[in-house]
Amino acid sequence: ENDILDKLPLRGKKVLITAGPTYEAIDPVRFIGNHSSGKMGFEIAKASANLGAEVFLITGPTHQKAVHNLINIIPVTSANDMYDAAHMHFDDVDVAILSAAVADFKPKEVAKQKIKKKEPTLTLELEKTKDILASLGEIKKQQYLVGFALETNNELENAKGKLKKKNLNLIVLNSLKDKGAGFKSDTNKVTFIDDNNEINRFELKSKTEVANDLLNKILKEINA
Ligand code: CTP
Ligand code: CA
Repeated sequence: ENDILDKLPLRGKKVLITAGPTYEAIDPVRFIGNHSSGKMGFEIAKASANLGAEVFLITGPTHQKAVHNLINIIPVTSANDMYDAAHMHFDDVDVAILSAAVADFKPKEVAKQKIKKKEPTLTLELEKTKDILASLGEIKKQQYLVGFALETNNELENAKGKLKKKNLNLIVLNSLKDKGAGFKSDTNKVTFIDDNNEINRFELKSKTEVANDLLNKILKEINA
C-alpha cells in the first residue's frame, strides 16, 4: 500500500461544490450578474482535492483556475444550468458545499433579439430562480450539506433560519459588515453554525485559510 495516499483523509470521497456568480440572460447580448469572483469556491475545491477527494466543481463564469487531476470543472452560466448540473451529481457525493452567488431573480422572458433603446424607460419583469441548495436539502440522504449565508444585518438569526429551512448540516455565515470580507476580496470573516447549534467564529482570514478551516470542520463531522 501507498503510505502517502493512505494519509489523504478524503480519499475515495466525492465532493460537489458550486462557485461563482450566475448570469441570467436579458437578451442575446445582455445579462444580470453579480460581482462574485468564484475565489471561495475554487479554494474549497483545491482544499478538498488536496485531502484526496474527487471534486465536481460546478462554476458560473469566473477567471479562477484549478488545475488538479481530482478536480472536474463543470462550467455553467445560469442558475437553471447550475441547478441541473448540481442535481446530476448530487446522488453520488458524500459532501456538497454550495458557495455560489446564485441570482435570486431572472428575467421572466428572454428577448429573442437585442433590445432596442427606443423608449426612455425599460421595465424588466423578473421571476425567482429555483433555490438549488434548498432543493438538495429536500432530497438529501447520506450527503453532508453545506450552505453559505451572505448577511448584512441580523446575521446569526438569518443564518440559523437558512440552516433550518434548507435542511443543512452546516452553514457558513459570511459577514459583509467587516472591511475586507466578501465578494471581491481575498479574505473572508466567517462563522460556522452546524445542525447541533455549535458555533465557531473566525477572524478575518485569507479565503485559502477559510477553505482549510471548513474542510477541517467537515472532516471532523463526517469523521472520514
Ligand atoms: N442558493 C442556491 N440557489 C439559489 C439561491 C441561493 O443554491 N437560487 C444558495 C447559495 O449558494 C448559498 C445559500 O443558498 O449557499 C444562501 O444564499 P443567500 O443568498 O445567502 O440566501 P437566499 O436563500 O438566497 O436568501 P436571501 O438572498 O433572500 O437572503
Ligand atoms: Ca440570495
